[in-house]
Amino acid sequence: MGGGFRRGGEGRLGFGAMRLPGMPGRQPVDHTTAVAVARRAVELGVTHIDTAAFYTRGASRANEILRRALRPYPDGLTLATKVGPGQDVRAAVEQNLTELGRDVLDLVYLQSGRPDETLDERFAQLAKLREEGLVREVGLSNVTRAQFAGARTVAPVAAVQNRFGVHDQSDAVLVDECAEAGVMYVAHSVLGGGRVRFTDPALRTVARRHGASVYQVALAWGLARSPTLVQIPGTASLTHLEQNMAAVRLELDESEIAMLERLA
Ligand SMILES: NC(=O)c1ccc[n+]([C@@H]2O[C@H](COP(=O)([O-])OP(=O)(O)OC[C@H]3O[C@@H](n4cnc5c(N)ncnc54)[C@H](OP(=O)(O)O)[C@@H]3O)[C@@H](O)[C@H]2O)c1
Repeated sequence: MGGGFRRGGEGRLGFGAMRLPGMPGRQPVDHTTAVAVARRAVELGVTHIDTAAFYTRGASRANEILRRALRPYPDGLTLATKVGPGQDVRAAVEQNLTELGRDVLDLVYLQSGRPDETLDERFAQLAKLREEGLVREVGLSNVTRAQFAGARTVAPVAAVQNRFGVHDQSDAVLVDECAEAGVMYVAHSVLGGGRVRFTDPALRTVARRHGASVYQVALAWGLARSPTLVQIPGTASLTHLEQNMAAVRLELDESEIAMLERLA
């Protein structure tokens, strides 16, 4: 798939654009900073950016920041976007095309709103847009194993985007199923969405040993955890972005990986 999925660490450390327009309850992000963060992400080797037309704050929109920052988009960059629960599938795809200024979207997820929801009909609508050439690959987000299995009978699933990280390994079986099936598993909220304190002693011990931050260890663990796992840490800070990207160079040994696997 368009450069977003490589087995080495670099292509698997992506960037989440949700915070670029700013987040409720946080300091607003000025447009110049947001554009600079998106550009720097690509300079630092990001080839997979996660976005959505509904990542907005006031008049500020993640898709438009990306368009301003990155067009003409570099070869090999995957821009992944979403159809949210309850959204009209075609209208959502068309909105993303317009906002991003693209003729075709690299990867579009159908997001589930509930674990007991059957996604098959809406996933078929999205797959049809792939046949029409508006979308290259289709995926699923916030899905259960049963929803993944069901949708796979409708159309090939290129990627699953769910919450997973060193602090929350409850989706581990699906991570492994995706690896076995060669499906990209995109982990969101890998740094706990800013709400989790990474105070676990094992995490801190490993971080101290490497002279790294706990966030860098969390990301390095994710890279080691599965060869098809892509992470999309979110930040509106250039400093945090640089720190996160440096995690690609952090190699944990088997015992450290095992220590962290027992965390959650
Ligand atoms: N499919 C879904 O339902 C879904 C849900 C949520 C998110 N997502 C996607 O996943 C992406 C990531 O989500 P997220 O941003 O909520 O969660 P996240 O990546 O787990 O955490 C981001 C939080 O960590 C902070 N942070 C980032 N790097 C840091 C560092 N090096 N040191 C200290 N703090 C750091 C950020 O603050 P600063 O801005 O201050 O750095 C922010 O508060 C989003 O951009 C979006 O694309 C998808």
